[in-house]
This record gives sequence, C-alpha cells and structure tokens, in this order.
Amino acid sequence: MTLPPARTAALPFPDGFLWGASTAAHQIEGNNVNSDWWRKEHDPAAKIQEPSLDACDSYHRWEQDMDLLAELGFTDYRFSVEWARIEPARGHFSQAEIAHYRRMVEGALARGLRPMVTLHHFTIPQWFEDLGGFTADGAVELFARYVEECAPIIADGVSHVCTINEPNMVAVMAGLAKRGEQGFPPAGLPFPDEETTHAMIAAHHAAVRAVRSINPEIQVGWTVANQVYQALPGAEDVTAAYRAPREDVFIEAARGDDWIGVQSYTRTKIGVDGPVPAPDDAERTLTQWEYYPQAVGYALRHTAELVGPGVPLIVTENGMATADEDRRIAYYAGALDAVAACIEDGIDIRGYLAWSALDNYEWGTYKATFGLISVAPGTFERTAKPAAHWLGGLGRERVLPRL
Ligand code: BGC
Repeated sequence: MTLPPARTAALPFPDGFLWGASTAAHQIEGNNVNSDWWRKEHDPAAKIQEPSLDACDSYHRWEQDMDLLAELGFTDYRFSVEWARIEPARGHFSQAEIAHYRRMVEGALARGLRPMVTLHHFTIPQWFEDLGGFTADGAVELFARYVEECAPIIADGVSHVCTINEPNMVAVMAGLAKRGEQGFPPAGLPFPDEETTHAMIAAHHAAVRAVRSINPEIQVGWTVANQVYQALPGAEDVTAAYRAPREDVFIEAARGDDWIGVQSYTRTKIGVDGPVPAPDDAERTLTQWEYYPQAVGYALRHTAELVGPGVPLIVTENGMATADEDRRIAYYAGALDAVAACIEDGIDIRGYLAWSALDNYEWGTYKATFGLISVAPGTFERTAKPAAHWLGGLGRERVLPRL
C-alpha cells in the first residue's frame, strides 16, 4: 500500500472540529418498508437495478457501527432518523421508533461520538408520497409536525441537526419523476423542479423554527450537493446561470442558519452549450464520476462566498466509490489538503465527515462502495478498511494533512 507523502506540514484541527463519517437510514438500516423508495425499488416500471432489502442491517447493528467508528479515532457520527418509521401512517407516531433513535443518540454519546442527526435524507413515508410529496397542500406543515415529534430524540445531547439532506437533489429527482424517470440523478444534474425547490426551502425554514423551539442550543442547518461547476473559457455566464437553480438558491436559503453542510464528490465542466464530459482517459470512480479530490476545496470556497459571514461550514459528505484502498486514501488526502488550504485562507470550517461509514445501498446498487467499513453480504460482518484506519489515525493526531 502506498501511503500519501509524510505530513510534514500538517495543520492542527481547529478547536471543536467535527471528525467523523456519515450515513443515511435508508442506505444502511434495511427493510424500510413504509418508505417511497422501498415501493419504487419493487416497482418494475421504476427500473431500479436492485432493491435495498436488508441493507447493512444497521437498524439492529448500530452499536457495532458506532463501536468501530469510536475505536478507529472518530469523534462524530452523522446518521439520519427515518420519517417512514417514525410516522408510518399519517398522524401515527411510533413511540417505539422514537425510543429506538433516542437509544442511538445515547449510544453515540456513551462512546464519545457526537451525534449529528439528519431528519430527512431522501426518503419519505409512502403515505406522504401518495399525498403528492413536498408540493402537496399542507406538506410543509406535515413535515414540521414530524420534526416536532422528533423532540425526544434530539432535545438533549445533540449538538447538530440537519433538517434536509441535499434538497437540490430532491428537487432534481422531482423534476426527473415529472418527466417519467426515476432514481438517482447523474452527475452534472438535470434541471430541478422549481415548485419542489420552493417547497424544500419552506420546509427547511419551518423545520429550523421547530428545532429551535425544541432546544435553542441545537446548531441547525441543511446540506447542499455541490457539483463544482467549472466554466470553460468564455462560458462564465452560462456556468453561473446553470449553477443558480441547481445549487445557489439552496445555499442562499441557509443564510440565518447555524451552519451549512457542503457535500461534494467530483466536478462538472461547463462549456457554452452546457456540461462537457470528462475526457475518455480521465480516471473515474465506480460511480463513473471523474476522480477529482480537489472538488471539496472549490465547493467550500463557493459556498462561503455565497452564504456570507456568520454561517460556518461543515463538510458533511465527501469520499469516493472504489475497490482500491490506495486510491481511496489518496482521494481523502487530496481532499483534506484542500480543506486545510481553505482553513488557512480564513474560511470558517467546523468539521469533516467522510461519506460513508459503511459500504451501503447507493440508491439502486450495492456495487458503488463508498465505505470506510465493508459489510459482508449475508453475515453483515463489518471490517474496517485501510482508509478507515488512516482517517481515524488523523483523528487521534488531531491534524489535517498538507501534501
Ligand atoms: C447523498 C448520499 C449518496 C452520496 C453518493 C449524496 O448525494 O447524500 O446519500 O450516497 O451522495 O452518491
């Protein structure tokens, strides 16, 4: 294994820096049977490659996941609670599921992991989908009521809450669905559904108010998928116009939040006629995205500039799908070098959470392995990969690498 060069110029973590990994309920828990995604996965017309089924069985094995993350050297764990479990039928709130997620919060704290709790990560209850989803009449109020019902989970000991993960991807997926397509959008992103964009922003603002009324000490924000649109010569205006509805409107909606999450994986070059694919000989990850670890630096700089002062940034997802641990470590090393450079330039960055803690259900397939920890099919046995040890080691040293 070739490790990245010696970290002679390592940058110490800023005080209180979050250092961890992220997951999402539907991608790891298994058997999320009351959700819209479960229904889609079993609908032949949706043409989804494979269903999630048991996923990583983290619904039952979350303690093992947390044990491993803490042992590796991480201090933070971002996971989501599943609306479709908490409110499986409209107006019926499962106290058993609320207690389950509260045990997870307490389990994280007991292991020295600060929990960051995401309230919505792509999936919705099937009954909410049947109503028409976020653009239906009364949808924002229904989402806010669900958030209020999460009070027993988050009221104590949760420092960070993410209301909605990647609302821009939700709006893009809604646009795809209206055009009769289903599933997870390709990099570069088709045009988002504008009605859904407005609804997501309204839902976020209602959820922020609900979280603050549960406990004003909770730091609340949302996370935006950043595609790192890079203008080819002469395409600066086209790029700005391309980015505005896909990204900027969601970043601007975070002004007034306690933080904003930056999630980036690759870049998209834009020419005068729109996106230009990476050359055939470019290195690609298992999701076919261009290998481009520097992306996160661009995403952080753009977000900081747009959101303005007073809203700190947290990298809430970053990583690559690969079967090659040398490349995964090289990706993280390159990405963290870019994060360190942003911090040195004075950008207020409060944490870095890798995507993902586990090899998980990548919205249609198990083949795209983003995990720091592998999960054996059938036995669900967890094994920390070399990148997990490498990143965890940085957590113990409390330094970011400078290459
Ligand atoms: C999502 C994750 C997803 C990851 C990799 C993000 O868009 O939040 O759920 O697995 O990217 O595709």
